[in-house]
Amino acid sequence: MSSKAPRSANSTAAVHGGAPEKRPHHALSHGIAQTATYTFEDTAALERYMRGEDPDPHREEYGRYGNPTVHELESRLGALEGAEDCVAFSSGMAATTSAILTLLKTGDHVVLFRDCYRRTRQFVTGILPRFGIEHTVVPSADLEALQRALKPNTRLVISEAPTNPFLYCVDLEKLARISHDHGRVRVLVDSTLATPCNTRPLELGVDLVVHSATKYLSGHNDVLGGLVAGPSHLVGLLRDSRGVFGSVLDPHAASLIIRGMKSLALRIERQNATALAVAKALEGHPRVKRVFYPMLESHPSYAVAREQLRGGGGMVSFIVDGGREQASRVVDRCNIASIAASFGGLETLIEQPAIMSFFELTDEQLKAIEIDPALVRLSVGIEDTDDVVRDVVDALSD
Ligand SMILES: Cc1ncc(COP(=O)(O)O)c(C=O)c1O
Repeated sequence: MSSKAPRSANSTAAVHGGAPEKRPHHALSHGIAQTATYTFEDTAALERYMRGEDPDPHREEYGRYGNPTVHELESRLGALEGAEDCVAFSSGMAATTSAILTLLKTGDHVVLFRDCYRRTRQFVTGILPRFGIEHTVVPSADLEALQRALKPNTRLVISEAPTNPFLYCVDLEKLARISHDHGRVRVLVDSTLATPCNTRPLELGVDLVVHSATKYLSGHNDVLGGLVAGPSHLVGLLRDSRGVFGSVLDPHAASLIIRGMKSLALRIERQNATALAVAKALEGHPRVKRVFYPMLESHPSYAVAREQLRGGGGMVSFIVDGGREQASRVVDRCNIASIAASFGGLETLIEQPAIMSFFELTDEQLKAIEIDPALVRLSVGIEDTDDVVRDVVDALSD
């Protein structure tokens, strides 16, 4: 890691960062405040609260506006990202769409980097135009294309970092500088693939960081959630929107995410190592046409990844020599890797984007977003590195 790389969250921070000093009943672990509403001792206490003068900063009024368990999760992710504030949502998409809708209004323009979660693209290109918000989609990590795309009414730039499924890493520092130099433009980065253990985008100048907590943060493939971290004045706006949109995270789900996040740094260490080992084993394999992993020198984002990421993350994509059927055969022959959408949990998952994530697209549309029918996306879990490597290499054999 270069000296310019941002500080990343370690295991001590993952276990303790953002946790409250005292808990009810002297409990060591977090409880679940399973309540929809909160009581007031008398009308004077209610009026004090409504005026914003309640001495308890964590006093809540109603479940859609706040919950102590959800608040602990927000505080923990805020600490890991080095953010002033953080707000939780019912899913990653709820976090992304709420952030976008809160920051933009009719007449605004948004720039989106191409390689991204397809529902984010669908929201920007299919739904925002209905509200009079225009967009330009630019090639991933291409900052010259971003420069060209910026318009007087551009208010938001959105990128994943790294992207899914090609693992492009845009230079976040330059992305933020170019966007901010243009004027009133904010930068929203979906850091789901990186996690604060591999990079902390806010330290590089990004305005807001979004996570699908469904993935690495919770880490157990058993819960959905989303989080947005950033400066208080922006996160506060999002919290207000959440109270209106109703896209709240259930306290039980928040508790599962907190539990998962305590082991985040340990899991990411293993997943970084396993994915790199898989990528190296696949590169140069006679049955593999191309491998995408940011910590391989052959990846277009290698230099940026070395500078801004502590590890390449747990996802490796590769194109199987032959075509769609040959790739399906490899996917089918894996034993440890299960065929499933999502990533970031304990179990290794595998998918063929052309027949899963992008099933509804025609061959031409697939070509336009550079999805080869023989592309396979492997998202490693925490199984032993040698076992995962062997599983994929064996699946590629005759
Ligand atoms: C990078 C990325 N961001 C956001 C999302 C959406 O998250 P969720 O499924 O929690 O709504 C996904 C889902 O796969 C994703 O891959």
